[in-house]
Amino acid sequence: MPTLSVTAKDAVSQSADALVIGVGTNASGAVVAGAQALPAPVRTALTQAVKVVGATGAKETLHRIPAVPGVSAKSVVLVGLGPVREIDLEVLRRAAGAATRELAGLGKVVFGLPTTTGEEVTAVAEGALFGAYTYNRYRSNGSGKNPVGTIVVSAPAAANTAARVGIRRAKVLADAVHGTRDLINAAPLDLFPAQFAEDAQRVVKDLPVTVTVLDEKKLVRGGYGGLIAVGQGSSRPPRLVKLEYKPAGAKTHVALIGKGITFDSGGISIKPAANMDEMKSDMSGAAAVLHSVAAIAELGLPVQVTGWMALAENMPSGTAQRPSDVITIRGGRTVEVLNTDAEGRLVLADAIVAAGETNPDVIVDIATLTGAQMVALGSRTSAIMSNNDGLRTLVQRVAGEAGEAFWPMPLPPELRSSMDSKVADIANIGERFGGMLVAGLFLKEFVPSTDDGAQVPWAHLDIAGPAFNGGSAYGYTPTGGTGHGVRTMVALCESLAVRPLA
Ligand code: BES
Ligand code: ZN
Ligand code: ZN
Repeated sequence: MPTLSVTAKDAVSQSADALVIGVGTNASGAVVAGAQALPAPVRTALTQAVKVVGATGAKETLHRIPAVPGVSAKSVVLVGLGPVREIDLEVLRRAAGAATRELAGLGKVVFGLPTTTGEEVTAVAEGALFGAYTYNRYRSNGSGKNPVGTIVVSAPAAANTAARVGIRRAKVLADAVHGTRDLINAAPLDLFPAQFAEDAQRVVKDLPVTVTVLDEKKLVRGGYGGLIAVGQGSSRPPRLVKLEYKPAGAKTHVALIGKGITFDSGGISIKPAANMDEMKSDMSGAAAVLHSVAAIAELGLPVQVTGWMALAENMPSGTAQRPSDVITIRGGRTVEVLNTDAEGRLVLADAIVAAGETNPDVIVDIATLTGAQMVALGSRTSAIMSNNDGLRTLVQRVAGEAGEAFWPMPLPPELRSSMDSKVADIANIGERFGGMLVAGLFLKEFVPSTDDGAQVPWAHLDIAGPAFNGGSAYGYTPTGGTGHGVRTMVALCESLAVRPLA
C-alpha cells in the first residue's frame, strides 16, 4: 500500500516524479482544470502543452510530458476529466486512479486536481489509492511493476475536518479493497477453503474480531448439508468462517454473508473450458465480506457485524455430488440438486440459516451467483434483490455514493414454482429466463423470520460481473479481481450504525 498524505502546500512546488493535472472540456475545447490556482507561467505553459500533445480532456486519457518551468516535479501528467461542469466525486476518483495505475513503477506522485471541498479531496485520495495496485505474487525475479510508492494530494481544503476524516477512511477502504483483490487474484491451487480460513484469521488478527472456523467434521455434525455436498468432490474440504465484531453500544446487528467457492468447475455439471479460469473469482463475495468486516472494525463503527464466509471448492470427482442427489440444508429443509453448477445458493442457504440463529436485524449476502446477472446488467453493474424496499433503496444509494454501481432487481413470486421438485422441498434450479431472480428466490426460502412471522430484512447482492474484470483496466479498476462490494458494505454499515432500518 502506498503512503498517502494531504497538504495545503502548492502542488507545483513539490518535488516528485510526476505532478498530475486535470484537463477538462468546455465550449472552447480542452482546458487546464483549476488553472486559476496555478502560477501564471505554469498555467500558460500547460495550456500550450495541452495543445501540443493533443490532450482532448476526454475522461481518463493520459499524457505525460517533461515538467515545464515553475513545476518542481520531474514530469507532468495531464489526465482527462471530461466536461468541467460535470466533474463529480466519481470523476475525480477515476481520474486519480487512472493516473496512479498508469504511473505504476514511479516513486512519488503529487496530485493537483481541482478540489474545493473535503469530500473532493477525499475522492482524489480514494481514487489514487484504489488505482495504486499491482499483483506480482506469481512473477519471478521482480519482473512486475510496483505500485506508486508515495501519493501526495495537494488541496486548499487539506486541513478541513471532512478531508481529515475522509483520508483516514480512504486508507482503511483501500486496504480492504486491495486485500480483497489479492484474494481473488490468488491461484485456486493456493487459495482453498482451509487456506482461506487461515487468511481470514491473519487479516483480523490485530482487530477486535473473533473468528470461528467450522471444519468439515463440525459441518457434518452441524447439518450443513449444502457446504458438505458442494465441497465433497474436492480433496480440499469446505469451511464455514464466522467473524464477530461486537462493539459496546451497538444498536443494530448486521449479518454479512459471502459466497466463497474457491474454484467453480461446475462439478459433475461441468462448465465449458472457455473462461473457466475466471472461476477462481467465485469466492469474491467471501473475500469482500472478510475485508469489509476488517474495515468496519478498523474504523470502529458502532454497529454489530457478523461476517460469514461459506467456503468450498466445487470439483467433479468420484466423491462429488450428482445431479438428482437430495441434500439437507442446516435447519432441515431438503434440496434436490439438479445442476451441480448452481452450487453457490447451496452453500449460501446453510450460511443464511446459520446467520439467522444469531438474530441479526439485517442480513446481506454477496455472491458471484449467476451468469444471468451479467446477461441482465453487463459486467460493471451489480444487482440488488431484497425482501425490504427500504433496504434495497438504501443499498443502492450508499453504493452510488461510494462509486459502486448497483441496480435494483425484483423477486417475482411466480418464478418460485419453477423450482418445485418432484422429490424434495425445492430444486436448486428453475426457469432459465430470469435466472438471477430465480437464484434470489431460492435464497429467500432460507431467510429467517422473526417472532411476528415477518422475514428479517435481507438483501442479496449478485456481483457476478463486476467482481472480476476479465478485460483491460480502466479508471481505478485493475484487470482481475476488483474488490467490488467492499465499499458498499462498509457504507451500508456506516449508515445503519447511525440510523437503523425503520
Ligand atoms: N459461479 C457461477 C456464476 C458466474 C458465472 C459467476 C459467470 C461469474 C461469471 C455459478 O455458480 C453458476 O455456475 N451458476 C449457473 C446457474 C445455473 C446452472 C442455474 C449459471 O449462471 O449458469
Ligand atoms: Zn456454478
Ligand atoms: Zn459459482
